[in-house]
Amino acid sequence: MSDAAPRQIRHGSNLGQPLTRRDGILKVTGAAAYAADHHPPGMLYAVTAVSRIARGRVAHLDVAAAEGHPGVVAVMTPQNRPALARHPDEKTDGFTFRLDLLQDDRVRYANQPVAVVIAETLEAATEGAALLNPAYEAETPAVGLDAAQAFTPPAIGVGDPADMAKGDVESGLAAASRRIEATYETPAQYHNAMEPHAVVATWDGDRLDLDMPSQGLAMAQGRIAGLFGISPADIHIRSPFLGGGFGSKGMIAGPQVLGIMAARLVGRPVKLVMSRPQMFGPVGHRAPTRQTLRLGATEDGGLTALDHETLTATSTFDDFIEPSGGVSHTLYAAPALATRHRAVRLDTGTPLFMRAPGEASGSAALEAAIDEMAEACGMDPLEFRLRNYAETEPATGKPFSSKALRECYARGAEAFGWSRRPLAPGRMRDANGLLVGWGVGTATFPALMFQAEARALLKATGEASVGIGAIDMGQGAWTALAQIAAEELGLDIDAIDFRIGTSDLPNGGIAGGSAHTATAGSAIKGAAADAIAQLADLATQDRRSPLYGAGNAGVVARGGRLVRRDDETRSDGFAEILTRAGRDAVEGKGAAGPDAAREHYAMHAHGAVFAEVTVDPDLGQIRATRLVGAFAAGRIINPRLVRSQYYGGMIWGVSFALHEQAVMDPRTGRPMNANLAEYHVPVNADVPSLEAILVEEEDPHVNPLGIKGVGEIGVTGSAGAIVNAIWHATGKRVRTLPVTLDKLL
Ligand code: MOS
Repeated sequence: MSDAAPRQIRHGSNLGQPLTRRDGILKVTGAAAYAADHHPPGMLYAVTAVSRIARGRVAHLDVAAAEGHPGVVAVMTPQNRPALARHPDEKTDGFTFRLDLLQDDRVRYANQPVAVVIAETLEAATEGAALLNPAYEAETPAVGLDAAQAFTPPAIGVGDPADMAKGDVESGLAAASRRIEATYETPAQYHNAMEPHAVVATWDGDRLDLDMPSQGLAMAQGRIAGLFGISPADIHIRSPFLGGGFGSKGMIAGPQVLGIMAARLVGRPVKLVMSRPQMFGPVGHRAPTRQTLRLGATEDGGLTALDHETLTATSTFDDFIEPSGGVSHTLYAAPALATRHRAVRLDTGTPLFMRAPGEASGSAALEAAIDEMAEACGMDPLEFRLRNYAETEPATGKPFSSKALRECYARGAEAFGWSRRPLAPGRMRDANGLLVGWGVGTATFPALMFQAEARALLKATGEASVGIGAIDMGQGAWTALAQIAAEELGLDIDAIDFRIGTSDLPNGGIAGGSAHTATAGSAIKGAAADAIAQLADLATQDRRSPLYGAGNAGVVARGGRLVRRDDETRSDGFAEILTRAGRDAVEGKGAAGPDAAREHYAMHAHGAVFAEVTVDPDLGQIRATRLVGAFAAGRIINPRLVRSQYYGGMIWGVSFALHEQAVMDPRTGRPMNANLAEYHVPVNADVPSLEAILVEEEDPHVNPLGIKGVGEIGVTGSAGAIVNAIWHATGKRVRTLPVTLDKLL
């Protein structure tokens, strides 16, 4: 019935409201308990010892020294770790990644766990781990994109083909009157969520109780159940708050499983929290890329061909291939289009989804190449993008379910002042004599849908509760999803006991792919509609109800009552309807997932990011000074939270363009900057003036709520815009990210 709800109610008090985070006060007062804040009675501390080599084997561990240390309870090694029901290298689906769980003495990458010390105190466990003093048989590690033979991976990302072609790129290039070919490099990046991966594990027989940050509770349950040979229903995970995930908490991490194994070994609750340096290895990263783009264009700036080849890296033992070419499938109307992905196997932890996996690295290269092509055509880079605007998706020919990118370009350009931009580089200076440059980049991210279920309970006591095992990882799910629940139930948000973040609630799917609000929200909408429909059945068939005879489609939920559409003076309260029917409650169930209609459309959010940088002409120091992003992402549930997502994404763009890179020691294969002092991310002083413009967009196809998702799009386009602005300031193209002053001088 809710699909037929009248417009004034759909745009009522809940959707579109800029509510502050409902968990905000808990967080700023420290009352929000994160996983590592829990201390069940009898709990022990586990600390992992990690490998100092990247390839080889552990020849010896001084277990006796560690065991002899006061306070140490046990040392878990390949010799005594609990047996697993399934080898952690066994892959059961595309989301199962191989984990290092002390199965043998092999070392596959630096910082791989080689033992776990369990002790009465954190200090004793830490000291015990240091006493293990491993001896290695080291082999020469493969480090860097040139260290191994490239191969064509069977699939990229989560299962897309490695190669794609439409039309004949070589003829397109031959026919072009302007051509560019450029190679861009992006470094390995590590997610570095503020909250490290952690677990507090308590076994009770074959039942397992976990406090553990997770972006996907049901998937974590399934993986743990498989590894330990227990039922998913016997695993209870609490994950109410995450200090960031960014993809690295999408699947349970190996060290979290080690904490569970340690608890099994000692028969007591165990807490394991990774240290910052240990996170540069077993918990995923964004793989480095080398991307070569070849573009051709006609005299008047029409693309004739676009060729995008990516070389990236995966581990020696598993596959995750950064799908950088995907952005080239969708953004620009090139009649001939080809993308290829190749990979090398390096002695590294397996890469993983990291915020806009593929789109972030791919758009950094594509947007710079488009800028170079515009320059070659003597055109303004925004005009060039409009000249090559894709009215249908270039790779598939499908219509877009909606696409307000033109409005994004226009609104962003207007707010930024783009029309005052000189075409040639090196023409602008600020009051201090610094070079000033302006650049633009297009942002894009697919509008995905995963699977989720939800329930909505309306009770005769007048109480309502809505439950879904959704995850608030800082993006604001606890607020935005509650707004959807309130809207669909016709209740005030504070009148609903709204629960997320534990695995005993219906499967809320994964908080990832920027699809959580769309997916979990659609499930909630379905559950609420089901509950209201049941109530409406009871009321409209009850002669004592003012709604008698209205028919189910003739009523709407509002203010805790069902109201007749044709006569608003006639209504009935939820509690009264249930009491009269002799019912304690109605329980609505909802489910959401991708539907068949999705196959007919290309579904993407879009945006345009405009960047200003200053460059010191003598010292090469670069600062991003201003970013304006205009984004169209379907229906906006909470503009305050959405702006915050866009700001976060644009700051990731600053980081991508100017700061972030993991530097691997070519001799040892160890990351040389595995800490937040040397792995640079923007601090407040690095963050420019930010503006995020929310461009209206209605999408009737994407999902029942018309939501496209806002989590990841902000990083796409932003890095390219900044790099292009650096060229505009200096006339110099730096194609190896991050752009640092040494590369400019
Ligand atoms: Mo995101 S990389 O889908 O958590």
